[in-house]
Amino acid sequence: MALAGFAAAGCRQDMHQAARYDPLERSDFYADQRSSRPLVEGTVARGFLRDDARFYAGKDGATLVSDIPTPVTKELLVRGQDRFDVYCSPCHGRTGEGNGMIVQRGLKQPPSFHTERLRAQVDGYYYDVMTNGFGAMQDYSAQLPPQDRWAVVAYVRALQYSRRVNVADLREAERATIDGGQAGTAPAPATHGGPATHE
Ligand code: HEC
Repeated sequence: MALAGFAAAGCRQDMHQAARYDPLERSDFYADQRSSRPLVEGTVARGFLRDDARFYAGKDGATLVSDIPTPVTKELLVRGQDRFDVYCSPCHGRTGEGNGMIVQRGLKQPPSFHTERLRAQVDGYYYDVMTNGFGAMQDYSAQLPPQDRWAVVAYVRALQYSRRVNVADLREAERATIDGGQAGTAPAPATHGGPATHE
């Protein structure tokens, strides 16, 4: 019995003392002397495959997606407003006019988001500018994960829409708050200058 106990203990000792490396310990076995081996090329961590190109790249093949590929909810818009005010408004201004504080202090003025050219861009275009930058503008991929970038796209769309709302699309109570608020087909008269004056 005692002998058997010894034998078992000895066996366990062997396993405790099996050859092994401490983290980042030097190795004489590998040519580069690194015991911690580099990842095999193309290794993807579980959950990080990101194979949904519409969502992660904003593209369908080589084409920019026309619509935001995630549900546009009130939460998304609120998040988008928050991120826009933090990361975009310093240059693009709180309303997307392109007259943010840094611009007023001398940085190159970006175009207004309310021009015909930018209004006509697909949703994926805005995502792409944030992902890859554009001309003098750096990219915001490090500051804004994909979901946040789409949130900002949604909010930029809301800013653009705010200049073009048809009075007939407003609720009764909202219509009453507007000057000359009869339902009509003309764009709502914006309180801060008409849309045409900004283009
Ligand atoms: C530091 C200033 C700055 C910040 C911050 C900034 N931009 Fe820009 N952005 C610019 C400038 C400058 C241009 C014009 C670049 C050029 O034409 O070379 C521009 C251009 C653009 C354009 C227009 C591209 C076109 O077709 O003309 C879009 C869209 C845009 N920015 C979106 C954003 C969004 C969204 C954010 C926030 C995530 C953001 N920008 C943050 C400075 C900035």
